[in-house]
Amino acid sequence: MRGLDCRAMPEIAISAREGAPQETAADTRVLGLFEGERLAEPELQQLVELGEARPGLRKVAVAHEDAPGGGRRRVLIAGLGKREDFDPEKARVAASAAATRAKELGAVSLSWALPDDNAEIGLVEGTILTLYKFDRFKSKGESEDEETGNGGALESLEIAGADISEDNLRRAEVAARAANRARDLQNLPSNVATPTFLADRAREIADEHSLEVETLDREGIIAKGMGAFAAVAQGTYAEPRLIVLRYSGGTEGPHLGFVGKAVTFDTGGISLKPGGKMSEMKFDMSGGAAVLESIGAIAELGLPVTITAVVPATENMPSGRSVKPGDIVTAMNGKTIEVNNTDAEGRLILADALAYALEQGVERVVDLATLTGAIIVALGSTHVGLFSNDDDWFAAVNAACAATGEIGWRLPLHPEYADLIKGKYADLDNAPEVRKASSITAAEFLHNFVGEVPWVHMDIAGSAWGLGRPYAGKGASGFGVRSLIELARRAGSSI
Ligand code: BES
Ligand code: MN
Ligand code: ZN
Repeated sequence: MRGLDCRAMPEIAISAREGAPQETAADTRVLGLFEGERLAEPELQQLVELGEARPGLRKVAVAHEDAPGGGRRRVLIAGLGKREDFDPEKARVAASAAATRAKELGAVSLSWALPDDNAEIGLVEGTILTLYKFDRFKSKGESEDEETGNGGALESLEIAGADISEDNLRRAEVAARAANRARDLQNLPSNVATPTFLADRAREIADEHSLEVETLDREGIIAKGMGAFAAVAQGTYAEPRLIVLRYSGGTEGPHLGFVGKAVTFDTGGISLKPGGKMSEMKFDMSGGAAVLESIGAIAELGLPVTITAVVPATENMPSGRSVKPGDIVTAMNGKTIEVNNTDAEGRLILADALAYALEQGVERVVDLATLTGAIIVALGSTHVGLFSNDDDWFAAVNAACAATGEIGWRLPLHPEYADLIKGKYADLDNAPEVRKASSITAAEFLHNFVGEVPWVHMDIAGSAWGLGRPYAGKGASGFGVRSLIELARRAGSSI
């Protein structure tokens, strides 16, 4: 299998249409219903009064009406909650409920009557993200859709309303599709999505969007002095790659650095993880997947920014040549590290990737990493952990996350936390024995490799999969892709 081009389903076509919602040619139209408001059409309003159509978010009622061209068609009435509480996230959730029901009913074409200004982004994203499925390894007849008799696909989504911004529609479509491609990379098992597979995918993205691509192999990583990255990679037969993509959409705006952890499988190494749920560690490359697919989408949209994306990709395996607890390695910036727990590998590969990004001249950095289990204890899957050495850059990243529903919560950095990761025999300790504030000490570790350059670290361990939002489904969520695109868009039009 090569690349991501083996998707079975054609993509849903997105369009906008001016004029009355009833004039649509779609086989299923969707009307939103806000709490305390009436529907203009009497037959449909009757369903509201009967209590069959309800305004609660995620509620969907089904009605039928005469289609303009003859025959009958479906009308879905989708609950939107209170109008004053309505926001893009609620649009995503409502769109998800409507898309799920439409698909169950065998709809082929869908038309959403725009319920509120600027809801189009959420409707498009919610629909595309909800329709994502990953069943390429299921034999024919075994996939969920086939079991439930819903083999058909939704072919088109139209947003009906006045003055719908084509630009918004396109942004939403490109971003959601990029998130789905990241989900493919995440969901692929580690025997397929190897470091070299990710490098091939990066090359594919570069070819498609005229980006510059560069990869370093094991020798190159060692030659570059990336002793921390090389130490993690030394235990595995799979060839590691440092993947670098460069996009230049004009000279204005700061040079951004996107760095993503891509441990294609994290066994823990010699500090082996317990067996339960270890299979989920194929998702430990989620930060890297988000970085690769977001830069592709940013180039597709032609956003006026300059970005260097750096993705260190390797497995973390135990073997006769693995790095061992107590080993001391030297990172690219000269700092020495005691590897006291080989399962704290993410910070080791990111140390060198961040140093490399700085060497490339990036002026603001954001890194995404499934870095610590502790962040799941602290924040669950609702907020990701955000850490930063710069209030303005933090505010920019935080705002981009808030706009996409990929919300974050800032946790502190402090010299006392930094003290906890001082090494006994070397500069740094990758995993101090005292298990205090583990997510923060992980961030403080990374802090050593960015210095004063404005930087935000996103610990996405709780959200990269098992997100639990209706539109995110099971498995991988593509978390971070939409925020990175939004961040680039804002950076391009002055932060
Ligand atoms: N990839 C894991 C973090 C992780 C764990 C993500 C569970 C998602 C779910 C990371 O490499 C790791 O193992 N971190 C250790 C650090 C510890 C050894 C200091 C952790 O969180 O336990
Ligand atoms: Mn680990
Ligand atoms: Zn890991």
